Amino acid sequence: MDIHLGHVVTPQDATSTNTSPSTPELLDIPNGAVVVDGSTIVAVGEASDILDAYPDTAFLDHGDALIIPGLVDCHVHYPQIGMIASPGEQLLDWLDRYTFPAEARFAEKAHAEATAEFFTDQLLRNGVTTALVFSTVHAHSVDALFTAAQRKDLRIITGKICMDRNAPADLLDTPESAVADSKALIDRWHGTGRLEYAITPRFAPTSSDAQLRALGELAADYPDVVIQTHLAENTAECDWVAELFPQATDYTDVYDRAGLVRERGVFGHAVHLSDRELTRLDEARASLAHCPTSNNFLGSGLFPLKDIRSKVPDLRIGFGSDVGAGTSLSPLATAGEAYKVSRLLASSTGSAPLTAADLLHHSTLDGARALGVDAHVGSLTPGKDADLVILDPAAGTAASGTPADPVLAHRAAQCTTTEELLFACLMLGDDRTVAGVVVNGTLVGTPGAGMATMAP
Ligand code: GUN
Ligand code: ZN
Repeated sequence: MDIHLGHVVTPQDATSTNTSPSTPELLDIPNGAVVVDGSTIVAVGEASDILDAYPDTAFLDHGDALIIPGLVDCHVHYPQIGMIASPGEQLLDWLDRYTFPAEARFAEKAHAEATAEFFTDQLLRNGVTTALVFSTVHAHSVDALFTAAQRKDLRIITGKICMDRNAPADLLDTPESAVADSKALIDRWHGTGRLEYAITPRFAPTSSDAQLRALGELAADYPDVVIQTHLAENTAECDWVAELFPQATDYTDVYDRAGLVRERGVFGHAVHLSDRELTRLDEARASLAHCPTSNNFLGSGLFPLKDIRSKVPDLRIGFGSDVGAGTSLSPLATAGEAYKVSRLLASSTGSAPLTAADLLHHSTLDGARALGVDAHVGSLTPGKDADLVILDPAAGTAASGTPADPVLAHRAAQCTTTEELLFACLMLGDDRTVAGVVVNGTLVGTPGAGMATMAP
């Protein structure tokens, strides 16, 4: 058993007195404590009460650092970590010029294994303990990621990309091989420890209708697996989908007709959706992944989060880094960019921008809800997995005498409220702000960021 002392800030799960799933209030305990027994959180409360209730228990004092839930990335491509920051001309050109060549290298198993190792290290360094990840078309790219994640005890959901047209020949599968490979991977990995499978058609333009339908049938055989794909990211893509699928009512209907719109269906980007599509996604209890750094990098558009929430308040919306189109694996950077997008939309539509509480919700509990893993993670709640991030604006000071991020440390020292401090961390923070991560109960230090020391 371990006690973590620090400034506890967490979303709270809906209760009978707090019924809205997207309630933005945070539990805020400046002198707080989280008790971890093995891999599970067993208590959260005031430090004085916890220390009385758990005498003779080892504790780690994280000082003024924030203790928040493990962060959740709802949409990221691990094979693209090596081509991040490649400036294409919008989505389709960027895929052809950089993405497909980078993914073709994953035909080599050793390359997949080395990249999976690097990628999972970077997730940890950034405080991401749960992620929904795209692998490549190669089944062994999934094995490589699950193997690395299993070793590090990360909660990872991934799947083999399926695409049978409109991509280079060496990256294509067929409807039959996509189903056979996906099924074998589900049987091998789904539900092993913290690992789950996601049926993964890349997006409508790279799958024939026959492939989408075959994957829909596979999904029907496995009602609890995740489904992930891209939806309405870019207007040229939307026009192309309308040409390729003239029989469909709209982009969402392409997936819906194939049986791919359902609970635990996670649709990346979703920038350009009609009200009909939003209503249908909500009715199906599907989820959206908002990827603001990517949408800004590729000029895809401004995801109207507040507008969507006003129309379909219960639709699950998590945040995704979407690396390699996204520009950072840090959920703090993603949240910072989400704020700026909401700020731009606020100026043009009069809606209120996102608050620090909204941003933390979307980065943790709402992300967990979007992936259907909120029974296990997303908040600091007794009974959930012990995934904690120690967020310290002054990280590094103990080790070197100088904070790793002097501007954030300086700003944090002037903050007088938790909202202000959290907002500064979200706007300015990155991996340097993550002083430590507890992954399923085990504390992992982050190189270069400094670590809290064991108190007497
Ligand atoms: N749409 C289809 N594939 C991709 C991809 O790899 N990245 C992004 N951002 N959009 C896509
Ligand atoms: Zn993507």
